[in-house]
Amino acid sequence: MSLNLHKPIMVKEILSFIESKKDIEILDCTFGGGGHTQSFLDEGHLVTALDQDKNSANIAKELSKKNNNFSFSKINFKNLEIFKQKNICKKFNLILLDLGFSSNQLENDYIGLSFKINSKLNMNYLDGDLSAFEIINKYDVNELDRVFKEYGEINNSKKLSEFIIKVRSQKKIETNFDLIDVLRKSGVNFRSKKIHFATQAFQALRIEANKEIDNLNSFLDNVHLYLKNKGLLAIISFHSLEDRIVKNYFKSNSYKKNDYFFNNSNWGFEILTKRPITPSKDEINSNNRSRSAKLRVGEFVN
Ligand SMILES: C[S@@+](CC[C@H](N)C(=O)[O-])C[C@H]1O[C@@H](n2cnc3c(N)ncnc32)[C@H](O)[C@@H]1O
Repeated sequence: MSLNLHKPIMVKEILSFIESKKDIEILDCTFGGGGHTQSFLDEGHLVTALDQDKNSANIAKELSKKNNNFSFSKINFKNLEIFKQKNICKKFNLILLDLGFSSNQLENDYIGLSFKINSKLNMNYLDGDLSAFEIINKYDVNELDRVFKEYGEINNSKKLSEFIIKVRSQKKIETNFDLIDVLRKSGVNFRSKKIHFATQAFQALRIEANKEIDNLNSFLDNVHLYLKNKGLLAIISFHSLEDRIVKNYFKSNSYKKNDYFFNNSNWGFEILTKRPITPSKDEINSNNRSRSAKLRVGEFVN
C-alpha cells in the first residue's frame, strides 16, 4: 500500500459547483493522494488525473485497478498538449488545480520540505532535477537574491544572499537544519511572526526548485483549449503569489454578460467566485493545512 496522509480541501465547496451535473468528464491536474478524484468518482463522474510525483503515481495505479472511470498520467500539468491529437483537443467539463504539495510530500524526508525533519537539502517534490542544495550552494548572489526577493518576499534578500555565499565558501550547506542555522545567524529580520521564521526562505526555495510559477503560467496560457463550453476551471492556491496570478488570469480573461470578452478573443470566463472561497472554521480545525487555501472558479464561455 502507498502512503496516503493527505486530506482533500474544500471538497463540498467544489462539488457544489457540479451538483446538478451527471457523468461529466473531469481533469484533476493535481491528483496528490487522490482525495478530490475519489469524491468525483463517488458521484459517478469520469476522471482523468495528472501528477508528477512518484508516490501519487503509485496511489493512482492502485485506484485504476479498482475503477474503470479513472485514468492517470505521471506528467507535469504544464504539458496539457498530451490531450491534443492531430490538432484536436480533448475537452473537459471541469478542470481542477489544487496547487503546491501534499501532506504525503511534506512528511517525506527524502523530499525535505519540513522544518522539523533534518533532511538533506532537496525540496523538489516533482521528481525533478533542481534541488534546494544546488540553489543554495551553486547560485550566484544575484540569482539567490532574485529567488528570495521574488518568491519569499524577503525584504533584506541581498544581505541574506551575501551571508549564504560567505558561509558556503567555508563549508557546503547540506541539510535543512544547516540552512535554518544559517538563516538564524544571517541577521535578517524575517517578517513571519506567527509562523516559523524560516517559512519565507523555505517557500522561496521550494518555488524555485519546482518552477511553481512557470508551471502555473504555462498551464494558464493553454488551459482554455481543454475546456468544453460552460466547463469550469477551479483553482485552489496556498500563497499570495499564486493567488494573485490566478485572480489576474480570471480578471484579464473575464466575460461580461453582454457578449464582451475582456481579452479581445472569442472566449473568456464568467467569474463564479467574486471573492475567493476559503475553508470553513470546522475544516480549518480538523485540517490546519487548509487555513491558507483560496478557491477561485470560472465558467468557460466561447
Ligand atoms: C495539494 S496536493 C493535491 C492533493 C489532491 N487534490 C488530493 O485530494 O489528494 C498537490 C499535488 O500536485 C502535484 N503537483 C504540483 N505541481 C505540479 C505540476 N506542475 N505538475 C504535476 N503535478 C503537480 C504535487 O505533486 C501534489 O501531489
